[in-house]
Amino acid sequence: MAFTPAEFASVPLAGRSAAVVDVLRATTTVVAACAAGCRQVIPVADPASALARARAFGAEALVAGERNGEPIPGFDLGNSPLEYTAERVRGRTLILTTTNGTAAMLAAGAADAGAVAALTNVEAVARWALAQGRDFTILCSGEKGGFSLEDAVCAGLLVEGLAEAGAALDTSDAAVAARRVGEHYRSRLGRLLEDAAWARNLDRAGRRADIHVCLALSTSDEVPVFEAGAIVPGHRPVISGTRP
Ligand code: MLT
Repeated sequence: MAFTPAEFASVPLAGRSAAVVDVLRATTTVVAACAAGCRQVIPVADPASALARARAFGAEALVAGERNGEPIPGFDLGNSPLEYTAERVRGRTLILTTTNGTAAMLAAGAADAGAVAALTNVEAVARWALAQGRDFTILCSGEKGGFSLEDAVCAGLLVEGLAEAGAALDTSDAAVAARRVGEHYRSRLGRLLEDAAWARNLDRAGRRADIHVCLALSTSDEVPVFEAGAIVPGHRPVISGTRP
């Protein structure tokens, strides 16, 4: 696994499955959009590319995203998962650009199979990864090239979920470290509101409702997957057992 984008070039992706993580908030938003029935999410690097791609899709497209946590002027949607309701996005193509998350999504496209992971769908993604039957790489989006605690927690819970689902694990040291961090926070995810720097930034910007949505564990069985440069809603496997 990669804790930061700086490691993306050195972690293996070819021949593997991969999950991309940006808990606050891009991957949580993609999970919400796919659960709400969007047709697809197309990650792009920057706002100008988003507007150019949207033109090719005509009226079906919505341009979406943020820079430094704030909505992009003139765009249809920001990066709050709460905005991505069925009324807004069902059947629509979303062209998404965010500060860190969409760059990691673009990197994950190099894997043989890719999925979008957040705390909200972590159990479902672990089951998806196990079902792929391949080695598995986790890409954490981080914050402007650096480490993000909430992404490491999610990555660790993915590793934990694989173990609980019966995977035979041969983990890198980074994955072991993430697992230990995940174990620590699993029963106290609310602490990330104080401990994680980007959560504190979002809170100061009045986005506490988003943080609560993003820090909720396994509230969705949606597994968005990569398909030909886009992210599409997955097959929504049924999750058995109780949820925290
Ligand atoms: C990002 O991609 O950097 C984020 O999702 C930032 C945010 O909007 O919270």
